[in-house]
Amino acid sequence: MKARVFSGIQPTGSPHIGNYLGALKNWARMQYDYESIYCIVDLHAITLYQDPQQLRRQIQELAGMLLAIGIDPAHSSLVVQSAIPAHAELAWMLTCVTPVGWLERMTQYKAKSAAQETIGDGILQYPVLMAADILLYDAKVVPVGDDQSQHVELTRDIAQRFNSLYGETFVMPETRLPAVGARIMGLDEPEKKMSKSAPGSGHAVGLLDSPEAIRKKILRATTDSHPTVDFDRLGPGVANLLTIFQAFTEWSDAQMRGHFSGMRYGDLKKQVADAVIAALEPIQQRYRQVMDETGYLARVLEEGAQRIAPIARTTVEKVKRAMGLYTPE
Ligand code: AMP
Ligand code: TRP
Repeated sequence: MKARVFSGIQPTGSPHIGNYLGALKNWARMQYDYESIYCIVDLHAITLYQDPQQLRRQIQELAGMLLAIGIDPAHSSLVVQSAIPAHAELAWMLTCVTPVGWLERMTQYKAKSAAQETIGDGILQYPVLMAADILLYDAKVVPVGDDQSQHVELTRDIAQRFNSLYGETFVMPETRLPAVGARIMGLDEPEKKMSKSAPGSGHAVGLLDSPEAIRKKILRATTDSHPTVDFDRLGPGVANLLTIFQAFTEWSDAQMRGHFSGMRYGDLKKQVADAVIAALEPIQQRYRQVMDETGYLARVLEEGAQRIAPIARTTVEKVKRAMGLYTPE
């Protein structure tokens, strides 16, 4: 039997090349070797206020984008988290074995709560829900970007604690990062992770950006005061551009050095822009096709949910029995 893969993405903002290179590209690649479940995590999205109409639309658009980047419903189950009540159900049971101190130590919690006046409990609970997502399906491998590895580690800690309290129940999941591109930085601020929420139009390249917009953002990317690429002294902006190029083209380190050493930044940027535009073009084309096909998305999501709901149900029943909760005879 194939090992199972699970990963999720929030339907907030527009997906960008950081999401693609850090996670989605691996999702598409792994679906042929693993039994894959990919989830649009709308329950995670509402840990910060979302306009309901916009959230509804972004769920659809993200589903379309996941198909466009190559998720194949014949090989993967594509689902929306809130369609399967077991996610929230298991999250509660895991909440009860999770020390608050573990959650308060999470980098993402610290960053998100620092930016809020009042902190919703959901922001603190966020990684417990993520642990439930993963553990519900006995996922062995979790392909994510670097910023999520701490949450996968926490998932292991929660699973271990549950197992030691209530007996062997959960499989230990492992993080899978891409070899290149696990942490794509903002083009305007290469010290900060590229993010959907960061303001500023020069920050992220959206997967649906026009070729002109992509070129403009990349040509304006922050570099440093050196004139040319020096692999022994890479500033964060230039390193980021090279990473983006390498992650899209899959060139080897030797090819990268041979080609870009000594190149002027202006020329580097043009080549990066060309590579990104060429890689996104077929994705954008497929996205338009998918979104034009009436009823297709709804069918894919429905079938995905039907396929995996019994797995989730079985786990919840197992956990309930382990904890001594009421289960009808
Ligand atoms: P999110 O948009 O936060 O739901 O993230 C979806 C996936 O994209 C997760 O696996 C993240 O780790 C990954 N990701 C988000 N931002 C970046 C980034 N700047 N670089 C690499 N991976 C990222
Ligand atoms: N927290 C992840 C993110 O923001 C999304 C996510 C939710 C996830 N549940 C998951 C990722 C389970 C991997 C596995 O990127």
